[in-house]
Formats: sequence, C-alpha cells, structure tokens
Amino acid sequence: TLKSAYKIASIPGDGIGTEVISAGVEVLKALTKKFDSFELEFTDFDWGTERYLKTGRYTPEDYLSILKGSDAIFFGSVGSPSVPDHISLWGLRLAICQPLQQYANVRPTRILPGTKSPLANCKTGDLDWVIVRENSEGEYAGQGGRTHIGCDHEVATELSIFTRTGVRRIAQFAFSVAQKRPRKMLNLWMVMWDEVILEVAKGFPDVKLDHMLVDAMTVRMVLDPRSLDTILATNLHADILSDLAAALAGSIGIAPTANLDPTRKNPSMFEPIHGSAFDITGLGLANPIATFWTASEMLHWLGESEAALGLMAAVENVCTAGIMTRDLGGKASTAEVTEAVIKEIMNL
Ligand code: NAI
Ligand code: MG
Repeated sequence: TLKSAYKIASIPGDGIGTEVISAGVEVLKALTKKFDSFELEFTDFDWGTERYLKTGRYTPEDYLSILKGSDAIFFGSVGSPSVPDHISLWGLRLAICQPLQQYANVRPTRILPGTKSPLANCKTGDLDWVIVRENSEGEYAGQGGRTHIGCDHEVATELSIFTRTGVRRIAQFAFSVAQKRPRKMLNLWMVMWDEVILEVAKGFPDVKLDHMLVDAMTVRMVLDPRSLDTILATNLHADILSDLAAALAGSIGIAPTANLDPTRKNPSMFEPIHGSAFDITGLGLANPIATFWTASEMLHWLGESEAALGLMAAVENVCTAGIMTRDLGGKASTAEVTEAVIKEIMNL
C-alpha cells in the first residue's frame, strides 16, 4: 500500500517551546510506528530569539518560500525577557500567520478525564467548546502609532480593522465548524459582524446561532459552561476568552491551537496556546499535553484522523492514570508524561 508522507516544519522557538516540541516530535514519531499508513518528515528550524540577537532577524529572508515547501508547521512559542514582546511576536509568529493567510485560529477546549476544572460541579463533558478566533485583522491588525513620545500630551492609537471579506470568511469557517459539532451551535457578537454573520447564517440553517457581548460571555463561560459550543469572536476577544477557557478546563498547559488557511493554499501552523514560560524553562516542569493535543489537531488537518484520535486516547489514558505535571496537580516531569503517552500509543 502507498503511504502518505507529510513534510513538517518544526519551529521550537524560545523557552519551554524547545522542550514541548521535542516531546511532541517524539510522540508523533511513535504514532508513525504504530499507524503505518503515513510518514512524517521533520525539518527543524532554529528560528527564535537567540537567532534574532545574533543576526537581527528571527528568520532567514526567504523563510516564506521555505515554509511553503511543507505540509504543516509545528510551532512552540516565541518570546524572551531579552526582547520586547511586540518585536518577537511580529518577528516570528505573526510573520508566519499573516502572509500565509492563516486567518482561522481554532482552539478546542474540554476537561480531560482524570483532571479537574477549578469550577465546582464542572466535570469532564460539561465543558466542550471550540473557540474560533479571527486571526488576520481586528485588534491585532498592526495599525496605529505614537506621537509626542514621552511628553505629557503623548498620543497613542491602536486601530481595529474589520473588513467585510475578513468577517465573511471567518464566519463561513466558524459555521462549518459548528455544523460538524454534535450540538450545532454558534455563539458570537458585534455590529458589522452581526450583519455579515446573519447573511452567512442563511447557508447554515441547521446551526443554532446565538449572539453574545464579550463581557456577558465571560460570565456565561463560568456560570453555564454546558450552554456553549462553538464560539466565534474577534482576534483580541477570542484571545482573552480562550485563556479563560484554558484555565476553566484545568490548565493553560493542555490548550492547543491551530492557525489554519482554510483554502489550503498555504501550510497551516499548529502550536500550544501557552508562551515560552521562562519561569519554568529547563526545569522539566512544562506540561507537554498542549503540544500533544496540538499534534493531534495537525494530524486531523492532514487527514490522519485515526492517528489523531489514537493520540488523544493515549493522552486521556495517561491523565486518567494520574501521570500529570505540576500544573495539573501531579508530580510527573515532561519526560515522564511523554514516555507514558508513547507507551499508551504502542498499546493502543
Ligand atoms: P506563558 O504562557 O509563557 O506562561 C504563563 C504561566 O503559565 C506561567 O506561570 C507558566 O509557567 C505557565 N505555563 C505556560 N505553559 C505551561 C506548560 N506547558 N506547562 C506548565 N505551565 C505552563 O505566558 P507569559 O508568561 O505571559 O509569556 C511568556 C513569554 O511567552 C512572553 O515573551 C510572551 O510574549 C510569549 N508568548 C508567546 C506566545 C506564542 O508564541 N504563541 C503565546 C503567549 C505568550
Ligand atoms: Mg494568548
């Protein structure tokens, strides 16, 4: 039989990014041994703050054509105490997402078995959401500036940009996500958004639509998690809501994200939601589950659903057995969790 082979560009980046991506690569390699329907060919890139400090650039100049030669990008995190966050963010992460038109950022959240939500009475199954974040414009469009810097009358502006095209394409994407979910539900908000979304909604009559303002949404996420399913929001709002979602599901250390180009003209990028976590870098404390879940999302996108589901089953078995890092209340190290997940994969 013919095997599919996928080229994966791996960019560990900074801090715990390097620890969780190497754990993720190990687990993915184990999956290719277990499921012989596909191969993964990894190319590692040392694009991160160390490179920036040496060369003045996070990436080589032809980084986009390099990345376009891959089927998917497996990304750790970027950011370091030695460089301001806006430079690292625009130098690497956004420098990839924006030109590769990864306009849909998808963030599934649920409570894994064996782990606990900080919400009393909220168990596995009570919280099962997908947050869809507009990933190309809105509050992170990069428009604005500063005048009279340092003076009392200094002015700073940050512009939010919303285009009809941008809203329409993310709405279409979010509806198609909601349509595939068991509850077929979509919760969202805003003015031109509302207008465009009502238009798009006509094409998805089986999806139940519900409008919410973002402040009310935070309350609903805490008080009535069962009433939510697919959540579509602007770039900034979805970023905030998804941090809350990750905390409610137990830890930022389990939360995955996919930066998708739904047209599939460009490779999509998969990364844990968390950052470089310099407070725990090098200590073996980083929870690799966010990266494993991210790897599972990547396999789904590549069409390897059996391996993707197998990976999550292995992760859930390891959590159920109580082999967890400190952020989830356990005592295991990054390496111990990784080893346990690989063992479960081999026993699937
Ligand atoms: P962070 O996510 O790195 O850390 C927040 C807290 O969560 C810390 O206490 C950290 O120890 C903990 N944490 C994060 N991931 C964990 C894991 N896998 N296991 C266990 N504990 C974990 O966010 P922070 O501190 O705001 O940012 C640190 C740096 O990362 C900054 O430079 C920031 O710009 C960057 N960053 C990069 C992102 C990206 O590349 N997509 C996303 C978020 C932040
Ligand atoms: Mg964030």
